[in-house]
Amino acid sequence: MKLTVACVAVVVLVAAGVVDSCTPADREALVAFKSALTEPNLGIFNTWTGTDCCNNWYGVSCDPTDGRVNDLILRGEPEDKIFEKAGRSGYMTGSLSPSLCALDRLTTLVVADWKGISGEIPSCITSLPHLRILDLIGNQITGKLPDDIGKLQKLTVLNLADNKITGNISPSIVNLGRLMHLDLSNNQITGVLPTDLGKLSMMSRALLNRNKITGAIPRSIASIYRLADLDLSMNQISGSIPAEIGSMPVLSTLNLDSNQITGELPVSLLSNSGLNIVNLSRNSLDGFLPDVFTPGTYFSVLDLSFNKLKGPIPKSLSSAKYIGHLDLRNNHLCGSIPTGFPFDHLEASSFTNNDCLCGSPLLRVC
Ligand SMILES: *[C@@H]1O[C@H](CO)[C@@H](O)[C@H](O)[C@H]1NC(C)=O
Repeated sequence: MKLTVACVAVVVLVAAGVVDSCTPADREALVAFKSALTEPNLGIFNTWTGTDCCNNWYGVSCDPTDGRVNDLILRGEPEDKIFEKAGRSGYMTGSLSPSLCALDRLTTLVVADWKGISGEIPSCITSLPHLRILDLIGNQITGKLPDDIGKLQKLTVLNLADNKITGNISPSIVNLGRLMHLDLSNNQITGVLPTDLGKLSMMSRALLNRNKITGAIPRSIASIYRLADLDLSMNQISGSIPAEIGSMPVLSTLNLDSNQITGELPVSLLSNSGLNIVNLSRNSLDGFLPDVFTPGTYFSVLDLSFNKLKGPIPKSLSSAKYIGHLDLRNNHLCGSIPTGFPFDHLEASSFTNNDCLCGSPLLRVC
């Protein structure tokens, strides 16, 4: 009887082991990946021992049915116990080995916030057909986005922010038909945005701020129905703001500050009641502030400072339901500052350095 139980247990264990264990090729790819990196603080790779990479290798998860590696998730700043214990955040040097590309069942690749990983994104990464999440934020990665990035047909998240990526945004990026979250902010990306960027119809966040992007805002962006957050600030973008952007149905945050944008403020932009955070500061916008505000107007932030806006502040602005932060400094506005609830809490600094604004909260009487 005892013997039978023991036999069954052995059989079950062996069966589970066979199903769960790492394939030799995946293990070899991980070992090569590890050998191109140095992680001196925490010793996370000390867990990468033995043959079964599916079992307790830090950051590695496998498909239990075939023992293939699905996820590789290594974060340098997680709320993980391993970091709490060590009392410091992660640091890693080295580079991303092309051996990663042998992990052809990979759906999630996160090697984030290690601060010191350099080298380029292996170009073979575009041959991983199942990749959904590619997150390499917070390293020192150089080189270009792969030219054929558009091959990653399942990609939903592309986060390469806070690196040193150069070159232009490969035009093939518009073929990422499932992309929802694009974050390339704080790199050294140059060149113009693809004119057909609007083909990214699933995209809800597009963060491209703090790069060296030139050229105009593609009009096609306005056709991205789901886009809620567009940040192109701190680039060298020129041309005017396409009026269609003001009619986007779910856009709530629009940051275009610190560029070289010219032309007038589209009327639709300030009358779009879903748009709550708007920063157009430090551009060369001219013309009048459109008189389109209503009791439906709700801005947490409306920063139009450091432009060339002229004329009066429309009286209708005082009918707004809420304006948290209004900044009209350093323009050519003139006339009396409207009174009323949305203006009561604003300080003089919101209105200074205009041509001839007057009335409270400025000291200059009208
Ligand atoms: C708007 O952008 C400017 C320039 O990039 C920045 O200095 C300012 O803090 C931003 N305004 C708000 C309210 O975040």
